[in-house]
Amino acid sequence: MKTLILNGSPRKNGDTAFLIETLCSQLTGEVKVIDCYSANISPCTDCRSCRGQLACCIDDDMQKVYSYLAECDNVVLASPVHYGEMSAMLLKAASRFQVYSSALIFRHEKLPISAKRGAVILSQGGSGGAEMAYDTARLVFQSLGIKDIFPAICSKATDTIPADRDEKAQADIISLANRLSQE
Ligand SMILES: Cc1cc2nc3c(=O)[nH]c(=O)nc-3n(C[C@H](O)[C@H](O)[C@H](O)COP(=O)(O)O)c2cc1C
Repeated sequence: MKTLILNGSPRKNGDTAFLIETLCSQLTGEVKVIDCYSANISPCTDCRSCRGQLACCIDDDMQKVYSYLAECDNVVLASPVHYGEMSAMLLKAASRFQVYSSALIFRHEKLPISAKRGAVILSQGGSGGAEMAYDTARLVFQSLGIKDIFPAICSKATDTIPADRDEKAQADIISLANRLSQE
């Protein structure tokens, strides 16, 4: 199994990083983590060149993501909740999936994406809902043609109980790792 993880947290040793580490320690197969804060990824500028061809003309680290999507099995979006949403840097990277939306909407093409399963991992300081972040994640998966999406795993109230002390979230991550490791 091959898993692509987009990490939307700015904190190297933060809550999302801990949950990603836990997932990686349990996943079988190959894992590629893209750190959206340090990667060289520009936002989509809606130049619309991808309406005519399956390619993004911006030559940066997203090209590695496009290549990996062609061979991986799972995609995981992992992010802190910022203002009710996934982080700006993760959304910036996700904006570049427009290349696939264009292929689907304007040319009705089959996407060069092998990934079939999607998962969402969220960390949030408070205990409010993270529905908006999850809804957006599902839209992102839709642009990748991924229909098999697991329920979100959320470490809530990290201001009081950080993810490394959140036993429920850790158990959920281990169970997710088992499911993502299956053929
Ligand atoms: C700019 C910003 C916006 C935030 N907005 C929310 C929010 O809307 N809801 C919430 O529960 N926590 C919010 N938080 C708190 C983070 O989600 C929380 O601290 C999270 O555990 C950080 O995860 P990380 O360590 O992986 O970056 C926000 C934090 C920042 C820096």
